[in-house]
Amino acid sequence: MNSNSKHMRPIWLAEKKGMVQVIDQRYLPHELIVKDLKTVNDTIYAIKQMVVRGAPLIGATGAYGVYLAAINSPGKAADNEYLLGECEKLKAARPTAVNLEWGVDRVYNAAVKKAPGENRMDAIKAEARKIVEEEAENCRMIGVHGCDLIEEFSRKKGGKTVNILTHCNAGWLACIEYGTATAPIYTAFEKGIDVHVWVDETRPLNQGARLTTWELAKAGVKHTLITDNAGGHLMQHHMVDMVMVGTDRTTHTGDVANKIGTYLKALAAKDCGIPFYVALPSSTFDWQLTDGIAQIPIEERDPDEVRFIEGEKDGKITRVLVPPADSPAANFAFDVTPARLVTAFITERGICNANVHDIKNLFPDKKQW
Ligand code: MRU
Repeated sequence: MNSNSKHMRPIWLAEKKGMVQVIDQRYLPHELIVKDLKTVNDTIYAIKQMVVRGAPLIGATGAYGVYLAAINSPGKAADNEYLLGECEKLKAARPTAVNLEWGVDRVYNAAVKKAPGENRMDAIKAEARKIVEEEAENCRMIGVHGCDLIEEFSRKKGGKTVNILTHCNAGWLACIEYGTATAPIYTAFEKGIDVHVWVDETRPLNQGARLTTWELAKAGVKHTLITDNAGGHLMQHHMVDMVMVGTDRTTHTGDVANKIGTYLKALAAKDCGIPFYVALPSSTFDWQLTDGIAQIPIEERDPDEVRFIEGEKDGKITRVLVPPADSPAANFAFDVTPARLVTAFITERGICNANVHDIKNLFPDKKQW
């Protein structure tokens, strides 16, 4: 996608052999810094510290992490036992986004089909690249399907602005291209549909305030930043036509884990009769778990992310303490929205209701149902 009129992705294979490069999202929107990943430990650090973040991007980074593990393997052989150990470390980097284990397992499974050595190395690199390209295409298709929903709203409103509320950053920075929740918005915008996005700031790390605003501004899409708690008020006053969010893990029964605060938006949307859409590629479905609230692991991060807030002052990124120095804080990074609050899923294969029957109809090949 375009950043400073340059086409960029948040991750790419560097020209130098054995190196991956990523946009360091911790510094956006104030600085555009590219970070080199040369080892599996660099990759784990990048995922844990949220240099890269967002479910599809975490999956792609995990996939390239297996490549970096292989390139740096003792004797360059990348034998099964070594690779398996490195894959387990990668998968433990962040617990909620299922894309991480999906991406890592896919590359591992492609690797072990080849004997250790040169061919295996090629197979690993090819599979990681394939994942990246497939995810880009999946997000493009989410845009195509989701745009129909926006277009329908626009028609009903006689061409007046369609107001969409989104939470966190489910844009191209979180994916490879287009984003998940933002893909239908970008597609609608490109078609000339009048759209406006309410952007939740998304405390504590402000992915909405820092990243979604940056993306939308670069693309020229109308948007307004709001506090995390403003959505309910806007919905009550008919200022939101639909909610569109991404997800980090969605059970095949339809329960949705996403950035903390998503559930409250879904509750408010239900109360106000506003559709609540969740956009996701099939890599974000969990084909095993059946009960999101009971079973999806919810990441708890460093409480200092809640206690401190970061921003730019006089050209320097600055961190300040908000509460009294010794007040404890808790940092639950995700919550689960039960299927009953979800109007529909927007996937690369089309739109479906949030229940096991409709998900199975769209993805009959994804598990033994
Ligand atoms: O903690 P983050 O920034 O990785 O959380 C990201 C989200 O919650 C996104 O909404 C989700 O990954 C969907 S991304 C397309």
